[in-house]
Amino acid sequence: MVHDIRPFALGLPKAELHLHLEGTLEPEMMLRLARRNGIDLPYQNVDQALAAYEFSDLQSFLDLYYAGCAALVTEDDFYDLTWAYLMRAAQENICHVEPFFDPQTHTERGVRFGTVVTGILRALEDGEERFGITSRLILALLRDRPADSALHTLEHAHRYGRHIAGVGLDSAELGHPPEKFAEVFETARMMGYRVVAHAGEEGPPSYITGALDILGAERIDHGIRCLEDPVLVKRLARDRVPLTVCPLSNVRLRVVRSLAAHPLKQMMDAGLTVTINSDDPAYFGGYLTDNYVAAAEALHLGPHELARLAEASFDASFLDADAKDQHVYAVQQYAKRHGIPLS
Ligand code: ADE
Ligand code: ZN
Repeated sequence: MVHDIRPFALGLPKAELHLHLEGTLEPEMMLRLARRNGIDLPYQNVDQALAAYEFSDLQSFLDLYYAGCAALVTEDDFYDLTWAYLMRAAQENICHVEPFFDPQTHTERGVRFGTVVTGILRALEDGEERFGITSRLILALLRDRPADSALHTLEHAHRYGRHIAGVGLDSAELGHPPEKFAEVFETARMMGYRVVAHAGEEGPPSYITGALDILGAERIDHGIRCLEDPVLVKRLARDRVPLTVCPLSNVRLRVVRSLAAHPLKQMMDAGLTVTINSDDPAYFGGYLTDNYVAAAEALHLGPHELARLAEASFDASFLDADAKDQHVYAVQQYAKRHGIPLS
């Protein structure tokens, strides 16, 4: 029997499918790297940074997120950033991760694409060797920059071959519909990348439909506004399109009023394939386990539902079928040990 949900959620084998590596930059590391690189930040200390993390919407967060990225300059900075996340992931029994990185925000400042990606990949390789955490890296394109810039970024990525598994779309959603990137994503698909896209976070359900139909997205990041369109909900359920939901993010960016008002449970009840994720944990007050626990407490989800969400996190990943089966089996064994039969 499970009395306290936190230890159960902590030890539960999980995959994280919606995580921006730049969003794991904790204020301590941001200040340390900025000092190391001679970069000026809008904060002098951790308390000032944390005090500024009060957001009214997605854009108000992105302004600080991009400002914080200025601290990241060298290959070692990207290594350290990724490694710090992986150490936490190991402590939370995150067995597989499909992180995003935002190369344009670095190349625009004169940091080379290769510097960014090499630092990240080196840490991901070490993470697999040291902790057994597998990964599939996703290059996220900034939707509030011109499509040309995205195409140029894809050309850079090509040199890294299979080390980059997928292409995603993030940044300010409103006013930047999927149509803007039709050609870019057609190119990405032709290059063999898996495709995901943020949609329906702040943007309307039509952006989710566009992400599926125009971009060919296999997974939708956030997607919570799908509930406003019953036809779309039916389609997403029928086609088992995974939605990578981020409860603490949605509250901090005021996409939803409170955790108690979060639509996650409604989405599960509608038969949608949903997973829980942390998005930008250094900014939103919690890593993956915190998101599981917060959702469980606010929405009255029990260990059985959390285990189902963990199974879904592996099923919705880009792992091959055998690896998925092994992870799902591990979730089932874990649940069984806690007196929760899943089948
Ligand atoms: N980049 C980092 N976090 C993001 C989010 N929640 N939505 C869109 N773009 C992002
Ligand atoms: Zn995101």
